[in-house]
Amino acid sequence: MRDLTESNVTDAVLNVIADDTNPRLKEIMEALIRHSHDFIREVNLSPDELLYAARFIQNVGHISDDKREEGVLLGDVLGMTALVEILGDRERTGATESSLLGPFYREGAPAREMGFDISLDDDEGEPAFLQGRVLDSDGNPIEGVILDLWQTSPNMFYEAQVGQPKDYEDYAYRGKFKTGADGRYWFRSRKPVDYPVPTDGPVGLILHGTGRHSWRPAHLHYLIYKDGFQTIQTEMFNSDSKYLDSDAVFGVKESLIIPYEKIDDPARAEEYGFNGPFYEGIFDFVMKDDASVKDAEAAYSERASMSSS
Ligand SMILES: [Fe+2]
Repeated sequence: MRDLTESNVTDAVLNVIADDTNPRLKEIMEALIRHSHDFIREVNLSPDELLYAARFIQNVGHISDDKREEGVLLGDVLGMTALVEILGDRERTGATESSLLGPFYREGAPAREMGFDISLDDDEGEPAFLQGRVLDSDGNPIEGVILDLWQTSPNMFYEAQVGQPKDYEDYAYRGKFKTGADGRYWFRSRKPVDYPVPTDGPVGLILHGTGRHSWRPAHLHYLIYKDGFQTIQTEMFNSDSKYLDSDAVFGVKESLIIPYEKIDDPARAEEYGFNGPFYEGIFDFVMKDDASVKDAEAAYSERASMSSS
C-alpha cells in the first residue's frame, strides 16, 4: 500500500477505471478527473469549499423541475453552453448559426397555422409580425420543416416560469409551425423584450457574487427540424437591445441579430391582422442537408428529456 500524495492521487483515481469502460465515457471521466484535480491544486481548495460546492450542486437539483432547469442555466452563465455550440458550428458550416436552448424550452407545444398569434391576443406589448423562409444550402425552399419557437411575454417571463405574474394559457408564446412548398413561415406575436435570467436560485449566487448582471437581450428561440437536415437550435436577437454585448449567457452571434421595423400602414396592418402599427422582423433560415438525420423530432425529444431527468 502506497500512501496517497498530492502527486500520485490523480493517477490512483485514473487507474481504477476499468479498461473495458465505454471509450467515450473513459475519455470524458479521465479528463474530468485530471482537470478537476488540477483545479483543486490551482486554487488550493479547502474542505469547506468542496462541501459548499457539493451543496451548491444539490441546490441546483432541488430548485429544478420540468419547468425550470437550473443545471442548464448554470452551464449557460459559465459560458459552457456557448463553447459547446461554437464547437458544434464547425460541423454545421453554411447553415444558420446556433445558439443556446436555454432553460425554458418545453416539449409538446401545439401545432399552429401560419399567421397564428402566439401571444394569444395579449393586451400588452408591441404587436410584431415575424416572417421569412427556410432554405437549403443552394437557396431552395424546404417544405415540411417544423419551426418550434418560444419567447417571453412582454412581462419578461416565459408563460410557465416561476413567479410569472399573469394568468397566461399553457403554451402561450410558444408554437410549432410547418412550412409549405414555398418554405415560408409567418406568425404574429409581441416584440420580444429584454429579460433577466432567474436569480432566486444557486445560479443567482454566482451572478451576484461576481458582480454580474442577469439580463439577456430580447430574443426569440427556434428549434428547426426536418428529416434529412441538421437540426437548428438558435435564437434571433432584437438589434435595438442594449444587452447585445453583455448577454448574461453569451448566446449572441452577429448573424442572429435582426432589426424590427415599425410599420405604420393601415392596409398592411389589416392584411396581417393588426389594429394599428406593428413591428416586422424578417429572417431566412438555412439548413444543411444530412442524410443521417432520420427521425429529427424523436431525436430532439430524447435529448430534451435527457436534460431534465
Ligand atoms: Fe430565452
